[in-house]
Amino acid sequence: MPRIEPKLMAKAYSLNKLLPLLLPECRTIVDAKRELGWIKKELTTPFQVLRACQMRFMHYPLQYILKSQPFGIIDVPCRRGVLIPRWETEEWTVDVLNRIPDNLPISLIDLCTGTGCIPVLIKKQRSLAHCIGVDVSEKALALAKRNSKQNGVDVTLLKRDIIKDSSNIISKHIDLLTCNPPYISKETFTKDSRASVRVFEPRLALIGNLEFYQNLIQHWLPRVDAFVYEIGDISQAKYIIAQISKSPLHARLWSVGIRSDLNDLPRVVYGFRKESKNFDKANMFCGFGRLYH
Ligand SMILES: C[S@@+](CC[C@H](N)C(=O)[O-])C[C@H]1O[C@@H](n2cnc3c(N)ncnc32)[C@H](O)[C@@H]1O
Repeated sequence: MPRIEPKLMAKAYSLNKLLPLLLPECRTIVDAKRELGWIKKELTTPFQVLRACQMRFMHYPLQYILKSQPFGIIDVPCRRGVLIPRWETEEWTVDVLNRIPDNLPISLIDLCTGTGCIPVLIKKQRSLAHCIGVDVSEKALALAKRNSKQNGVDVTLLKRDIIKDSSNIISKHIDLLTCNPPYISKETFTKDSRASVRVFEPRLALIGNLEFYQNLIQHWLPRVDAFVYEIGDISQAKYIIAQISKSPLHARLWSVGIRSDLNDLPRVVYGFRKESKNFDKANMFCGFGRLYH
């Protein structure tokens, strides 16, 4: 990341002496001003505001300072050790949510649930849904519990390492599986991630390769009617599409597609059974993304 020009620092200082502290993370005066506005709105004393700006200068994530992040209509509690929900995840989650019929008791399992942002938001807006969140991290599950309590919803939370053992997590067929797995390669994480992510957010939540997508094919496919998995790049989606296309059984039963985000980057690989139980998943995912199989 290039250094901030001294001229820009001086200009920021002339506007407000706190702005230069925000520039290394915000990069522009407009963004720094916006962030200072948020900080002042959330924190009460000038000392707290100054302290927050100093922490930002050290790249400490804003959401860990303010202790929350909006996600759809809910506010998700944030704390160090648990991944901060991202707008990319919020975008597809809200789209999925709006496609779920509100008069049916659908079953949903969210793997790698972190703060529980996905199942808590869905349960909040689809009260008949039965939602389960699974994560290996105690810290994440404690925060997901707080999230569901704070938002007044009941989500079942389970501690499991899904790569080591996915057996016995569910006993019956599930309508919808969602997952935002760790998907950044070690190399990309070291070379390209921002300091606020690299230093302060949990590696367990970020670094991964194909293992969670392999787990989808090997374990989850026979147990669900539809899946939505976030991806970091197109190779992860291609892997899923190739695995489904090459198996005559999967190829006959499943449709698979890719959904891009607002920046037009491939962000989700999703699939649904051509014929499913409970309600029509093909209809639910109509126009969600582009089908490749
Ligand atoms: C990218 S974060 C997603 C968090 C949340 N779903 C979101 O979208 O903000 C990935 C999550 O996977 C969890 N995780 C990592 N390895 C896991 C494993 N083997 N089994 C279950 N959960 C795992 C991490 O603890 C982390 O909370």
